[in-house]
Amino acid sequence: MKIGFIGFGNMAQALAEGFLLKQAAVPEDIYACARNWEKLEANAKKYGICPCRDAAETAERSDLVVVAVKPYQVEEVLTPVKEILKDKIVVSVAAGMPFETYERFLAPGTRHISTVPNTPVSIGEGIVVCEDIHSLTDEDYRQFRELFSQVGVVVSVGTKLLGIAGTVCGCGPAFAAMFIEALADAAVLHGIPRDLAYQMASQVVAGTGKLQEASGTHPAAMKDAVCSPGGTTIVGVAALERKGFRSAVIDAVDAVEHKKK
Ligand SMILES: NC(=O)c1ccc[n+]([C@@H]2O[C@H](COP(=O)([O-])OP(=O)(O)OC[C@H]3O[C@@H](n4cnc5c(N)ncnc54)[C@H](OP(=O)(O)O)[C@@H]3O)[C@@H](O)[C@H]2O)c1
Repeated sequence: MKIGFIGFGNMAQALAEGFLLKQAAVPEDIYACARNWEKLEANAKKYGICPCRDAAETAERSDLVVVAVKPYQVEEVLTPVKEILKDKIVVSVAAGMPFETYERFLAPGTRHISTVPNTPVSIGEGIVVCEDIHSLTDEDYRQFRELFSQVGVVVSVGTKLLGIAGTVCGCGPAFAAMFIEALADAAVLHGIPRDLAYQMASQVVAGTGKLQEASGTHPAAMKDAVCSPGGTTIVGVAALERKGFRSAVIDAVDAVEHKKK
């Protein structure tokens, strides 16, 4: 399958990197366009993919087109190429752009789906949240899932939940990175070298997440399991509670949702 990226910024490159790493595509079958040609050429060279002059060339050369420009640019960029897109599988990764929004400007009958991936797709550890309403055929959908499940867990939600799912999965890496940074800073404060501190903190987060996923254990039970009565971990847990750790995380997601309104 030939994959085209309309827009080749952070998210498109994370996906391209993941597809190549997982050998879901070869570089010669990946096409991309962007606004700044010199920057695009340099980025295309980095991955060995094919730079295209514009959205029309990208769409023409591809079977599956990933829409990866900023949400406010989507309509302006796709409208001139909507006739070409009629014969393609169109996958949007633009946040806050559900199925119905695309229906307003794409040509009738265009096969499209709206998704929100996150940046760990670049190493095949992402999450790709998809809207359950789409106009892909069964075969398109099978191909789409086969491709995107190479770079992350593919989940489906109703239109109403696409925004919050995008916030949790798309903004979550920033919040998780802040926790990793803070845990590592604490390690450094007590003498652990910086590199080792990041290695430890990242593995704590990755391993705990994997363990929760694999075991299905309630997170509170996982916390209880490492807090012995009168022990040391519960002292740290109590300090986090005093500082409002959990409510700070809930408020962060809530703040993002309010900002969107
Ligand atoms: N980053 C994330 O973690 C994340 C997560 C979930 C969803 N998303 C979604 O992914 C989309 C892209 O976000 P991003 O973070 O990758 O943004 P970005 O790094 O700013 O990339 C945007 C890309 O669009 C290109 N572009 C701008 N105008 C264009 C035009 N007229 N024709 C073709 N390409 C054009 C830009 O080219 P130039 O650089 O040359 O201007 C750039 O390559 C957004 O809709 C966002 O909601 C991002």
